[in-house]
Amino acid sequence: MNIAQLQQEIIRLKKEKDVCILAHSYQAREICEIADYTGDSYKLSVDASKVDQKNILMCGVRFMAETCKLLSPDKRVILAQPLAGCEMADQMDRELIGAVKEQYPDYAVVAYINTTADLKTICDVCVTSSSAVQIVNRMEDKNILFIPDCNLGSFVAKQCPDKNIKLLNGGCPIHAAVTAEEAKKAKALYPDAELLVHPECVPEVCAEADYIGSTSGIMNYAVKSDKKEFIIGTEISIAEHLQYMCPDKVFHPLSLKLICSNMKATTLMDVYNCLTGNGGEDIELDEATLRDAKKCINEMIRLGE
Ligand code: 13P
Ligand code: SF4
Repeated sequence: MNIAQLQQEIIRLKKEKDVCILAHSYQAREICEIADYTGDSYKLSVDASKVDQKNILMCGVRFMAETCKLLSPDKRVILAQPLAGCEMADQMDRELIGAVKEQYPDYAVVAYINTTADLKTICDVCVTSSSAVQIVNRMEDKNILFIPDCNLGSFVAKQCPDKNIKLLNGGCPIHAAVTAEEAKKAKALYPDAELLVHPECVPEVCAEADYIGSTSGIMNYAVKSDKKEFIIGTEISIAEHLQYMCPDKVFHPLSLKLICSNMKATTLMDVYNCLTGNGGEDIELDEATLRDAKKCINEMIRLGE
């Protein structure tokens, strides 16, 4: 079977088996093409909670499949590639943050959505990269422990000067590896281009940017902009997708290091294998985890509206 035939077979099987396929924007183009929904991690979970299908297949990383399960506990949620974790989400667990909370008892814990469902159970509110500033600003608490990403946390702290934000030493190693020198070099090489970066990049890189936002924020900005040339400071697939979407514009990846191997672990063949019952992993969360982690998500929805 070639790629087009495999895609046709996947489209036939997903209807037959009542499966809704979600693909995070970092997935390869051939996977996005067969998905029912594409987008950022939280949008995908909200989309999935509204569909009629009883089965959700997540092409993304584990915390995204868990978020889906939290929002749709009665649906069967399958992670297409069980090895696809998130290096940032795996940095901090409930034991570690439980111990930090004991040291800072008067701090509210704000968890980036890139955390495990187990860790979310002891956090006060969840945020995404696009909602973090608004949510932190709207919280009554002044003292905030922001986990796990110190780069997103620094970005939030700058926009919320009235808050006392404590950060830990976590973050996305892929985004954090890009340097300000690379950003300056790219700007010198493409002087007419705007630099758009994800807030998971270090503050020195963000300081060089014309726009800082989530994966969807970057895509929307580039599509709507009158400018013709962009340097994209997030996972390399975003520059590739934008190039297909806007053939009259030019997109340069900020750095060729911006490749998330976990996001790239899912293949079209994995999707096919899940649909034929030969792959993937069912996401199971116990009652207490579903209940307590959902509180953190509910608080995000309340403060994010
Ligand atoms: P989004 O929430 O913007 O989709 O980002 C998820 C992520 O893992 C970024 O590296
Ligand atoms: Fe996690 Fe970084 Fe990959 Fe995003 S790019 S999924 S934060 S490891």
